[in-house]
Amino acid sequence: VTNRTFTMLKPDSLEKGNTGAILEKINMAGFKIVAMKQTQMSKRDAETFYAVHRERPFFGDLVEYMTRGPIVAAILEKENAVEDFRTLIGATNPEDAADGTIRKLFATSISENAVHGSDSNENASIEGSFHFSGREIY
Ligand code: CMP
Repeated sequence: VTNRTFTMLKPDSLEKGNTGAILEKINMAGFKIVAMKQTQMSKRDAETFYAVHRERPFFGDLVEYMTRGPIVAAILEKENAVEDFRTLIGATNPEDAADGTIRKLFATSISENAVHGSDSNENASIEGSFHFSGREIY
């Protein structure tokens, strides 16, 4: 079934100049970009987006990291998009990520891990709507 997932290239990816290389991997893996923009999250945006993690010890650092510079947000379409995108990006911790995955190639650490990928169809829809209005989605 063709479905959609949501991704963000996180601030470390833009700081290191990896935007083009990561988008190339995404395109080569067969994902179609149906929405995309560069933007910067406010503290309130990040606290809302990551609300499920608010009790975790890394929450403050996560909000600081995700707001320190611009991100690239995108909605991607492909057969089995959510699961296949998580395979493409690899494990949260780049030390555990498989060879050739985006996090293995481009992540800095478990906390600065280069990219986000939605973990379910429901969250893909919620997260996509958080960043894009209907008119921004092709
Ligand atoms: P992601 O899985 O996309 O969403 C939660 C983020 O919290 C995660 O990526 C990391 O950027 C960050 N994070 C920081 N420390 C940890 C940790 N110990 N475990 C999981 N996620 C962490």
